[in-house]
Amino acid sequence: MGDIFAVTNQKGGVGKTTTTVNLAASLASSGKKVLLIDLDPQGNASTGCGVDKDSLEVSSYDVIMTTVKAADAIVRPEDATFDVMPTNSDMTAAEVQLLDVKLREHRLRLALESTREKYDYILIDCPPSLSMLTVNALVASQGVIIPIQCEYYALEGLSSLLKTIERVKQRANPNLDVTGLIRTMYDARNNLATEVSRQLITHFERKVFHTVIPRNVRLAEAPSHGLPVISYDRSSRGSIAYMAMASEFIRRVESN
Ligand SMILES: Nc1ncnc2c1ncn2[C@@H]1O[C@H](COP(=O)(O)OP(=O)(O)OP(=O)(O)O)[C@@H](O)[C@H]1O
Ligand SMILES: [Mg+2]
Repeated sequence: MGDIFAVTNQKGGVGKTTTTVNLAASLASSGKKVLLIDLDPQGNASTGCGVDKDSLEVSSYDVIMTTVKAADAIVRPEDATFDVMPTNSDMTAAEVQLLDVKLREHRLRLALESTREKYDYILIDCPPSLSMLTVNALVASQGVIIPIQCEYYALEGLSSLLKTIERVKQRANPNLDVTGLIRTMYDARNNLATEVSRQLITHFERKVFHTVIPRNVRLAEAPSHGLPVISYDRSSRGSIAYMAMASEFIRRVESN
């Protein structure tokens, strides 16, 4: 049955969506059956996978808030090698609406029960907040992937994320674990980046993935073509890094 991973960090712009899309594509190219779920009202992962978010008939919003089945909201974008459950700004309403529904923290977990078995890996792109949507992702997941941009404020906020994960683990999902922290947009010539990276390894030791994602313009360009970088420019540094990340991820997850 497919393991579910929430890609999350409430800090904005740290590389969550870039990591979700490119890890999904790299896992698929390693022969894995992959589903990407977009839970962020910004819909960046949907666009980045080539889905027109403004013409969705159903979205992850409907799966969480209505009786629409997960399978009916999943699409396979043209040219894609993995499935996508897209979303758009409709999802903004879910934050508030969820407060009034039964089993509000479990909606996504319950909705995915019948779909999980079709996949090896399900990756959830979370919004930049510790909202009810992120809690839904954490309750549905076995693992948490935390992208970190190695800059001055990187560690700030990490403790509230870890506390939220711990709270979800205690109250709703004892199986939840941090799979790993991924250093993104990394520039080894930048002293601050190397210092923050060193601190991360001191605090989190083996939870930090060895693979480092460099700053690479191809990674930033690919979404405007609706493609993961592996399809946009396979030999770019960004593409090679996410392929290495997928291998390390598979080794780590499958050895557990
Ligand atoms: N390794 C990288 N090299 C160059 N640009 C990158 C890299 N990773 C991400 N970016 C760019 O940085 C910006 C933020 O990345 P991304 O959208 O993945 O972050 P996010 O954490 O999902 O943001 P948000 O919190 O708004 O959802 C985007 O413009 C993206 O293209
Ligand atoms: Mg994002």
